Amino acid sequence: MESRRWAEVDDYFNGLLVGSDPALDAAVADSEAAGLPPHQVAPNQGKLLHLLARIQGARTILEIGTLGGYSTIWLARALPPEGRLISLEADPGHAEVARANIRRAGLHGVTEIRTGFALESLPRLAEEGHSFDLVFIDADKPGNPGYLDWALKLTRPGALIVADNVVRDGEVVDAGSADPRVQGVRRFTELVAAHPRLSATALQTVGGKGYDGFVLALVTDGSPF
Ligand SMILES: C[S@@+](CC[C@H](N)C(=O)[O-])C[C@H]1O[C@@H](n2cnc3c(N)ncnc32)[C@H](O)[C@@H]1O
Repeated sequence: MESRRWAEVDDYFNGLLVGSDPALDAAVADSEAAGLPPHQVAPNQGKLLHLLARIQGARTILEIGTLGGYSTIWLARALPPEGRLISLEADPGHAEVARANIRRAGLHGVTEIRTGFALESLPRLAEEGHSFDLVFIDADKPGNPGYLDWALKLTRPGALIVADNVVRDGEVVDAGSADPRVQGVRRFTELVAAHPRLSATALQTVGGKGYDGFVLALVTDGSPF
């Protein structure tokens, strides 16, 4: 199957089920104009994150990897008025673009972008006593095992952990890969699989953004389902 057809199918479903949205369209346009890489989730995946947060009834969301705030907007829109989303971003330029995009979307009241390396910001969130209903992991992939460790410290049973880009064009099955991103998602998935308080699955995706996928993990109290 040609990847062109994947993109056509994405366009078909996005046209019917996602639609265009001025704040999200402007976030993508301004991110591109500012020279950010086009690494935001696809529209249908952004909508999936939004639906997951709503199904979850999430009141607190942690995002690791903001870029221009595209997925942040999708997630923050799922929050109730008193909800809170904290997004961690290493690059101050990305964070600045994201803050402007989030302000234009009217979500600055519920959203905070923290600039700095996630592995330095995460311990501070724990010190401050935060707990999150949903964690979206979408930053540097070698960091994923560490992000999982912190996600577990910052959640309670019933929370959902979502990690993006775990398939990497199928490279995830290459145990000998020299790519630290592949090794990061492999180690992450192995840690998820072995953890007694996680019940998880992984899905492959194709579309306008190519061939990739995500892991979904529910934090449990350890009892078997
Ligand atoms: C794939 S992009 C995020 C896309 C965004 N979640 C979206 O879908 O709109 C990854 C982002 O993570 C940031 N990043 C990379 N390493 C990081 C780190 N160690 N700590 C925090 N952010 C990091 C990058 O600067 C980049 O903006």
